[in-house]
Amino acid sequence: MQSKKDSLMVLLLGASSGLGKALAKLFAQKGFQLYLAGRNTDELERDAADLRIRFGIEVSVFAFDAAQTDRHADFYRQLPQPPDWVVCLFGYLGDQQLAAADHFGEAGKILTANLVGAVSVMNVAANQMEARGHGCLIGISSVAGERGRQKNYIYGAAKAGFTTYLSGLRNRLSKKGVHVLTVIPGFMDTKMLEGQAAPKLLTISPENAAKDIWQAARRKSNICYTAWYWRWIMLIIRNIPEGVFKKMNL
Ligand SMILES: NC(=O)c1ccc[n+]([C@@H]2O[C@H](COP(=O)([O-])OP(=O)(O)OC[C@H]3O[C@@H](n4cnc5c(N)ncnc54)[C@H](OP(=O)(O)O)[C@@H]3O)[C@@H](O)[C@H]2O)c1
Repeated sequence: MQSKKDSLMVLLLGASSGLGKALAKLFAQKGFQLYLAGRNTDELERDAADLRIRFGIEVSVFAFDAAQTDRHADFYRQLPQPPDWVVCLFGYLGDQQLAAADHFGEAGKILTANLVGAVSVMNVAANQMEARGHGCLIGISSVAGERGRQKNYIYGAAKAGFTTYLSGLRNRLSKKGVHVLTVIPGFMDTKMLEGQAAPKLLTISPENAAKDIWQAARRKSNICYTAWYWRWIMLIIRNIPEGVFKKMNL
């Protein structure tokens, strides 16, 4: 284990997510110090206590709501130490039918949780890292952002926006010592998939996704599909002619 002084400080935004919990454990095993941020601070305090006991690392918990964009700068400023890595994990699949109907409320919630809130807080982190001249920003997008499907195109549109945002951020910050990693997961076995008909064969555990993300961050990869085969599945899906694609029931 690294000494506390040398170990990286990682901020997990949306730390109560299935993937967030898996990443927290993996980073704790590596001896990193952690800031867990999310809406449910009681749950995060329990996770933090468990991580401290099991791995002997320093863990702090902070309240964070992606929708409260006017508070993001203050949220980031209150952190006792600037994080070396920031992972933007929070996301909301939402109810596509409701969002597509005449209720902008649900569509707005989906766009806010997956894009507006993410851009807001990542802007703050990016500017701070740029000023320091180092850091790593990891954004969790989705294969849903690679092509719009009737089943989840509002969530997909938000993730497409987030993927494009991360690409631009990487283009800007690669000259400033800050690395930006875009993570594009397929199906992961978490709360988000509850009630969804996801094929078991293509669904991976959040622990395996966390390992892929760790490897990609360590190698300073730009884009990480998890599991790896989604890179090829999405290559095929993106290349289906629109005339054919629009007739498919996806
Ligand atoms: N699971 C999949 O198959 C899959 C596939 C592709 C991409 N992804 C993406 O991977 C990431 C992690 O997904 P997951 O499946 O691990 O998620 P999850 O277990 O379903 O948890 C979602 C997380 O997002 C948080 N969240 C939602 N709205 C928020 C808001 N306004 N402010 C702060 N936090 C908010 C939730 O916080 P609360 O606990 O407070 O509700 C929860 O921690 C997400 O970005 C997701 O879109 C997931």
